Amino acid sequence: MITQETIDKIIGAARIEEVVSDFVKLRKRGTNYIGNCPFHDEKTPSFTVSPTKEIYKCFGCGKAGNSVSFIMEHEHASYPEALRYLADKYHIPIEETISSPEQQEQKTLRESMHILLSAAQKFYTDAMMQSEEGKNIALTYFKERDLKPHIMESFGLGWAPSSRDAFSNWALKNGYNKELLLLTGLAFETAEGQRLLDKFHERVMFPIHNISGKVVGFGGRIIKSNAKEAKYINSPETEVYSKSKILYGMFQAKKAVADHDSCILVEGYMDVLSLVQAGIGYVAASSGTSLTEEQLKIVKRYTENVTLFYDGDDAGQKASMRAIDLALAQDINIKVVSLPLEEDPDSFARKHDKEEIEEFIKKNALDFVRFKAKNLLPDGQTDPIIKAKAAREIITSVALIPDSLKRNLFVREAANVLQMKEEELHDELRRILAGKMRDANKGGGEIRTETTAPAQMPLVDFYSGVIQEERVLRNLLMFGDKQFTEEQTVGEFILSQLTDADWENVQCRKLYEEVKKVHEEGGGFPGFSLFVNNEDQSFQQFIANMMSDKHSLAEGWAKFLGRPITSAEENYREEINSSINYFTLKKIEQMIGQNDEELKKADAEKDIDKSIGSLQLKQHLNEMRSTLMKQMGITVR
Ligand code: CTP
Ligand code: MN
Repeated sequence: MITQETIDKIIGAARIEEVVSDFVKLRKRGTNYIGNCPFHDEKTPSFTVSPTKEIYKCFGCGKAGNSVSFIMEHEHASYPEALRYLADKYHIPIEETISSPEQQEQKTLRESMHILLSAAQKFYTDAMMQSEEGKNIALTYFKERDLKPHIMESFGLGWAPSSRDAFSNWALKNGYNKELLLLTGLAFETAEGQRLLDKFHERVMFPIHNISGKVVGFGGRIIKSNAKEAKYINSPETEVYSKSKILYGMFQAKKAVADHDSCILVEGYMDVLSLVQAGIGYVAASSGTSLTEEQLKIVKRYTENVTLFYDGDDAGQKASMRAIDLALAQDINIKVVSLPLEEDPDSFARKHDKEEIEEFIKKNALDFVRFKAKNLLPDGQTDPIIKAKAAREIITSVALIPDSLKRNLFVREAANVLQMKEEELHDELRRILAGKMRDANKGGGEIRTETTAPAQMPLVDFYSGVIQEERVLRNLLMFGDKQFTEEQTVGEFILSQLTDADWENVQCRKLYEEVKKVHEEGGGFPGFSLFVNNEDQSFQQFIANMMSDKHSLAEGWAKFLGRPITSAEENYREEINSSINYFTLKKIEQMIGQNDEELKKADAEKDIDKSIGSLQLKQHLNEMRSTLMKQMGITVR
């Protein structure tokens, strides 16, 4: 481990503009530098480097961070790798922590495990290539599956002999101790504890490599077709192998993935091998687990474009549905290629050459909107309830995308595919996003009563959170029983928008609860009069003020918006929508404020990860804000 002191030195020495300009041509503009973003294609530069803030940020694609994260992102480097790169650039000697004896032991233990696992891989390969049994069974098996020797070699395939302790015996004889055999999961003790038996026997073997190419585990496939045992067994979770964090084949694929700027994800070992053999090198498998967030993070180090290529059966389709949302949440561009029912990528790859496979994928890759629509709405399905459900599910996925521009494009796509109005889908999207805001806000700690809005947002000074809350409630009381849409009254609509709202003002909260209660007990929507005689003096005062305030508030809005506003009485629908929008905007503002505090704190503590996280959230929130403001017709610079 690199010492904190060294890390501080490296970060202190690294000048962001120097680090970046090794890779990007920068021009000075004011106090900043700008250049063409290395992370996305652009012709006009939106990639900005601020030497004073020690940060880069692309206003095109949203990537942002400091020197270390730039190297991580640009060079696909890990955190320590990036630090070492910078230390080298600035001639800073690296000091490593003297780890505790336990840590030292842990480290040596892991190294020993890697050594044994790698020895095991050689053992299994030798058994396949040299023993009669291996040649007759394993080699023949792989040949029957059309695998070429160079693929078997580059993936280190092998054979676990049929004798139940061949490997354990060999390992013990060669000086590996029993503990190591147990720890790697390669062997286990019999119940009586007297004998060591091999985890894998009579199986063809697929070694699993981590991203730096070390063997961390194995998958073993049975070759007898009528066996009662599981078709595949895999190494157990160990100190060096966690199946949710490993993608089979990624070590071999990573360069091709980065070069091709896309990655095909399949389910099985054989799918990977056959595709690679066909010339599609940018492929990896989640093998033995449904795709996880961690696995997608590994892919994202090399590309943001992922294509799922799963079996054509039901299970494959279901797995795709699950994987989509995980990918979207990480801003991965995900597509799905469905195969005919009886095929899997392995069988398909064996029947076609590289061009045909790539052509097939290109032709059949569906973005998630189309894929979900196809699954949720089989051809000719017109039932409005099923359609509404499908629309909601699709928009729920859209809402996961952090990038607002992409969200909007997918809403358009969904409107097309579902033959619905874009605006209807936007409404649903807004509702979902607002709900998320509220949820996020709930965990946000103390409530801020004063807003520290950025200079370009005078809006907030006037529209303080409390005013927004009052405005929504006033509308609820004034227009609650009026019709809003064909199915909904104003009151029902407002309540549906306020579910779980985080009220800043206790009186507002109380009023909201009271109105909701009356409504739920079947009393419709009460007007002000129900509350003016409340036993709670301060509450009564609050209601009275609210009633008398309406006029001056309307004037204030008009002044701020720079246009006369129609009196709420005249055009209550517009007023309702507007009040809900401002209410939501206000909540976004609050989150931006809270996040800015977090950012400041993270920067003070030099917590890079947290700082970048906050930066990204900030970008995301700003996007939400400007999208909402645009939709509201407020022009901002
Ligand atoms: N798998 C597993 N354990 C099982 C079955 C499957 O770990 N009992 C994993 C393996 O990584 C396998 C993948 O899930 O490669 C996909 O399973 P499946 O489609 O059943 O197998 P195939 O890859 O098609 O295997 P084969 O072509 O060898 O029959
Ligand atoms: Mn198969």
